[in-house]
Amino acid sequence: MTAKPLGTALSLLFLALPGVLGVPTISCRNEEGAAVDWFVFYKLPKRQGKDGGETGLGYLYMDPSTRSWRRSEKLMNTNRSALGWTLQQLYEAYPSKSNNTAYVMYNDGIPKSSNYSRKYGHTKGLLLWNRVQGFWLIHSIPGFPPIPEEGYDYPSTGRWNGQNGICITFKYSQYEAIDSQLLVSNPNIYSCSIPATFHQELVHIPQLCSKSSSLKVPGRQLTTLQSAQGQNFLHFAKSDSFLDDIFVAWMAQQLKTHLLAETWRRKRQELPSNCSLAYHVYNIKAIKTARQSYFSSYQDHAKWCVSRKGTRNRWTCIGDLNRSPYQAFRSGGFICTQNRHIYQAFQKLVLYYEDCN
Ligand SMILES: *[C@@H]1O[C@H](CO)[C@@H](O)[C@H](O)[C@H]1NC(C)=O
Ligand SMILES: *[C@@H]1O[C@H](CO)[C@@H](O)[C@H](O)[C@H]1NC(C)=O
Ligand SMILES: *[C@@H]1O[C@H](CO)[C@@H](O)[C@H](O)[C@H]1NC(C)=O
Ligand SMILES: *[C@@H]1O[C@H](CO)[C@@H](O)[C@H](O)[C@H]1NC(C)=O
Repeated sequence: MTAKPLGTALSLLFLALPGVLGVPTISCRNEEGAAVDWFVFYKLPKRQGKDGGETGLGYLYMDPSTRSWRRSEKLMNTNRSALGWTLQQLYEAYPSKSNNTAYVMYNDGIPKSSNYSRKYGHTKGLLLWNRVQGFWLIHSIPGFPPIPEEGYDYPSTGRWNGQNGICITFKYSQYEAIDSQLLVSNPNIYSCSIPATFHQELVHIPQLCSKSSSLKVPGRQLTTLQSAQGQNFLHFAKSDSFLDDIFVAWMAQQLKTHLLAETWRRKRQELPSNCSLAYHVYNIKAIKTARQSYFSSYQDHAKWCVSRKGTRNRWTCIGDLNRSPYQAFRSGGFICTQNRHIYQAFQKLVLYYEDCN
């Protein structure tokens, strides 16, 4: 009769003192290496002389405590950046090959390879977790991050254009839902380890990891997720059988909001702003990051959208897909939130957008 209370007491102790008792607290990390519930970053394009610097490694940073964009004093390629601190949790843990930590790295453009396959989703990210919690990093950077054997670095493929991403800390209870979303977005996994202890709850990730998935995949799937500190998110995932523009055909109508979309614009690969359905989608054409710093969407590989000013529902979404006719044939997703600081931060970046004719 004493076994159970003791077990409960011990597990409470583990939850309260995870670092002390050897179960590390995996979470997103800020610019000082401290745990944060979430952060967003916006890597500035290289050409942007004054503000972006000549390196193409400067970035804007925001988390729940900054409440708005801060120009980081770090560069993307140092492990003292928020991404560096966050990913260091994987690079450091990797050599011990722990049985209680799992990770997945995926990218349609895998690091140090010119191979490119359209078989997988147009989706980029990293998950690291144990049975307590972990984080999900969703980003736009081709060829990033390096495999665990190589340690933290930032690739040249991510320098020229703007890039963005979001890191969210999740309790383990959220990973079943994440598992289902990954099945739909069909990531190109280039490095992973899912110890057997996770196989009971997480059905799809181990199969995706071993590239043995032959399951039936829904055309699209929407799920709610909650961060470790209780911030709500909505995750949209579409497969390659949902043959439409995710922004117009699904997200705007589902969120009941007019959206301004910033994605990589390329000549002859553009969908025009679209006011055909109840909720409209407008292409952002230029971004302003400070009073005299602008860049064009042709130099921005970032993928996000934000509710138009004055709209009732104020959403911000960050994710995988561009507004291009070719991306209807690709799987991928977006994670959305109504956090008002995130909304204001992204809204402030919009310099101008294209109206419907
Ligand atoms: C950065 O990398 C160096 C060299 O590998 C390492 O000694 C240091 O601990 C790392 N710093 C962080 C913040 O992870
Ligand atoms: C991990 O699990 C495997 C298989 O159960 C076992 O052989 C191995 O010793 C374990 N390693 C550690 C570090 O616990
Ligand atoms: C690239 O593709 C070739 C041919 O399919 C394959 O042999 C090679 O291992 C691939 N390289 C990487 C890094 O995946
Ligand atoms: C707007 O988008 C919808 C959904 O993709 C599409 O059916 C419609 O043809 C588009 N309208 C214009 C004017 O491009």
